[in-house]
Amino acid sequence: MARRQSIIQFKLRAGESLINIDDYRRAARRRLPQMVWTYVDGGAEDLVALRGNRSAFSEWAVRASVLKGYGEPDLSTTVAGVPLSLPVLLSPTGFTGLSYWKGDVAAARAAERAGTRYALSSASSWTIEEVAGATREDHFFQLYPSGTSAEVASAMERAWNTGYRVLIVTVDTSTRGSREGERRKGMGMPPVLTPWRVVEGAFHPKWAFDFMVHQRIAAPALSSLGKIRQTGGMGRAVEAIEEMERVMQPTLNWGDVEWMRERWKGPMFIKGIMDPADAVHAADVGMDGVIVSNHGGRQLDHAQASIAALPAVVDAVGDRVEVLVDGGFRRGTDILKALALGARAVMIGRPYIYGLAVHGEEGVVEVVDILRDELKRALTLTGVRSAQEVDRSHLVPRHGVAQSGRG
Ligand SMILES: Cc1cc2nc3c(=O)[nH]c(=O)nc-3n(C[C@H](O)[C@H](O)[C@H](O)COP(=O)(O)O)c2cc1C
Repeated sequence: MARRQSIIQFKLRAGESLINIDDYRRAARRRLPQMVWTYVDGGAEDLVALRGNRSAFSEWAVRASVLKGYGEPDLSTTVAGVPLSLPVLLSPTGFTGLSYWKGDVAAARAAERAGTRYALSSASSWTIEEVAGATREDHFFQLYPSGTSAEVASAMERAWNTGYRVLIVTVDTSTRGSREGERRKGMGMPPVLTPWRVVEGAFHPKWAFDFMVHQRIAAPALSSLGKIRQTGGMGRAVEAIEEMERVMQPTLNWGDVEWMRERWKGPMFIKGIMDPADAVHAADVGMDGVIVSNHGGRQLDHAQASIAALPAVVDAVGDRVEVLVDGGFRRGTDILKALALGARAVMIGRPYIYGLAVHGEEGVVEVVDILRDELKRALTLTGVRSAQEVDRSHLVPRHGVAQSGRG
């Protein structure tokens, strides 16, 4: 006889309730020392761009259509020819090992378990070979194309030979954004440790243990550019952060990008496009895609919100290139809005770092699954069959009047 399930569960403590991305954010904040937290969660100067990335979603409301009877919506899509189970990829983030020592390896493995891809940063905590060796699928590689052309060519060659086929070139770092929170908490140049900061780190014993034992802090991918000597622990970390200063690309120009385009045989995307004219230029020089991004509000404060910049970019390039977008995606309805405005897929940065800090690899899968569930629910309630079907007719300005007569 089947056991009857009890209708109410009694527990001494309710435990941590991790229902949405913001819950993971709060839990991650508790688990990380302040120095690391401000690095992960902070933004440039007055945080106007950072906050704008979130608040701009409220400019649109979703127009639902009822009684369609479609059943469960299909979330699948492709980006650069790569099939994905949902239109969400993991953006490149540097120094992931600071939040969880297995950083890039854990994120890449979680991405493939969740049916998507990880974009490995040039400033990763694990090398491109280590990540390739720990995963089955080909992930994407993000390059800061600084240094001599020989160095850039060698980094590209190394990524290609390791099996990376999609190259993302980040171009919104002509100088380093001023993240004042980081500087105040000692993550400036050079990093400043005070007795309190050391004690504060020790208040996070699990983090401190992993930090000391594994020392997965620095950016070995940069060492591929021949810039960072393979020193150990904090020494390597400081060297890597110094190197990040030099990675900034004040003289980078379209000629450099064209030069890279000629050398890279696979699909190539430019990340950090906000101006429709730049998107057209990217298409003209043979890019396969653009990523509309203000670097998560970490570079130019008062930059337009990514979601606000998206429609003009889509209108300018049409079907010539794939348009992705990142910055502030925390809800399924955010993703729905980006798809409706013409993005092929969205990317997330901080949300998966929260997942890493809270539950490691599993935490990243959990975060992606939350977004998957929310997107599925949002599409079902909107009355569409698939993520690819949603279009601008499903959005209305927040205070606008819905047009009638959609087919
Ligand atoms: C801690 C951190 C490190 C980052 N490092 C890189 C990087 O190495 N390369 C890069 O192209 N973008 C980097 N970014 C920007 C992200 O790729 C992405 O554009 C941004 O995080 C998206 O916003 P979101 O965090 O609100 O999702 C970083 C972002 C964060 C939060």
